[in-house]
Amino acid sequence: MPTFQAPKGTFDVLPPASARYGRLVARFAGLVERAGYGLVVSPLFEDIGVFRRVGESTDIVRKEMFDFEDKGGRHVALRPEGTASVVRAYVEHRPPSPFKAWYVAPHFRHERPQAGRYRQHHQVGVEALGSGDADLDVEVVALAWQLFGDLGLQRIRLRLTSLGDDTCRPAYREELLAHLRARRGQLCDEHRDRIDDNPLRVLDCKRDACRAATGDAPRMLHRLCDACAAHFERVQAGLGALGVAYDVDPSLVRGLDYYTRTTFEFEAQALDSAQNGAGGGGRYDGLAEAMGGPSTPGIGFGLGIERILLACDAEGVFAVPETTLDVFVIDTTGGETARDLTAALRRAGFRADRAWDDRSWKAQMKAAMHSTAALAVVVEAEQITIRTLREKGEAETVQRENVVDHVRKRLG
Ligand code: HAM
Repeated sequence: MPTFQAPKGTFDVLPPASARYGRLVARFAGLVERAGYGLVVSPLFEDIGVFRRVGESTDIVRKEMFDFEDKGGRHVALRPEGTASVVRAYVEHRPPSPFKAWYVAPHFRHERPQAGRYRQHHQVGVEALGSGDADLDVEVVALAWQLFGDLGLQRIRLRLTSLGDDTCRPAYREELLAHLRARRGQLCDEHRDRIDDNPLRVLDCKRDACRAATGDAPRMLHRLCDACAAHFERVQAGLGALGVAYDVDPSLVRGLDYYTRTTFEFEAQALDSAQNGAGGGGRYDGLAEAMGGPSTPGIGFGLGIERILLACDAEGVFAVPETTLDVFVIDTTGGETARDLTAALRRAGFRADRAWDDRSWKAQMKAAMHSTAALAVVVEAEQITIRTLREKGEAETVQRENVVDHVRKRLG
């Protein structure tokens, strides 16, 4: 019989490691719900046009989408990023503004798999639509910052810039184009003939040829109009007031085209540069309109769960929990007592499990040790004892009706 493996670039997350996924998402949910963000669940696939709006010149759209024709002949794609879906939903349903949403979802990009770079990865993120207030930018950035802090991560660098808006960007684009055209011969093969599509993309190229040719290129941050400059000032003042440490980095370019004004990235400095993007985001004040809706400002971020957990491993924080059980029931009298006691313990709020198949005392004890529970309740011929599993301690004999109370006393 053939055997199967998870598709290239994907992976399974099994217990106990998966407990960290759940805990990370729970912390994130708590954090953003306290700030008024509500969960949005949107389809895993959309009309491909939805994702094309995030930038025809980006690698994500040009090369990395999992797209296909469905049985009805519709051209759809698996979600490569989360913002487009939320903005599509906003435009479709027109909820009251500001619309503050959070999500946790798998994302799909047909990338060359390597450490920290997968074909299916998972993001938690927020999107806030309907306000251009610079203090909202501060709120959004500070939420991500707080999550990293809550997890215990200390080596996260926040890079921040402004990419301007419709007022200042067109003139900057022309200036950058002139710079690049004058150096066309020096650019890498991919970008030599594509600078007109989106000259900003060239600034994001990691190849030495493009890097050398763009080292002295003009940067948007130095060409902001007065309104964008004032917005950026206010954002910096707000981050300072909330104690969020940031580096203004005019060379920051993101892999998506929709960004305007505030744009940022979180770099996990404990990781290699190929995989150290722990998250990123920014304003996208033109995206709702590009999606066919009314002109609506928006801002958000997406954080890569796998990258964050890699950073936690590298910094030795937010470890896989040692145990997910409080108590394990061993029963050598046929299993009925285990059945009833486990149910009673769970009803009382304990995390309880038991051995199956009426196996020997030794086999059940082995299962109990493997479970990493703190306590075992051992049911033998005439008596029930409670004993510690992970450290030495006295075994206590208890009456059956007192088991739950005893467990409560022992575990506090
Ligand atoms: P992004 O920077 O493309 O932004 O992705 C967000 C994060 O997802 C990255 O910083 C990284 O941690 C993680 N990530 C991306 N691709 C992979 C991959 N192949 N394997 C593992 N992790 C990955 C966005 O997607 C925007 N939608 C963020 C945003 C929200 N901007 C505004 N609102």
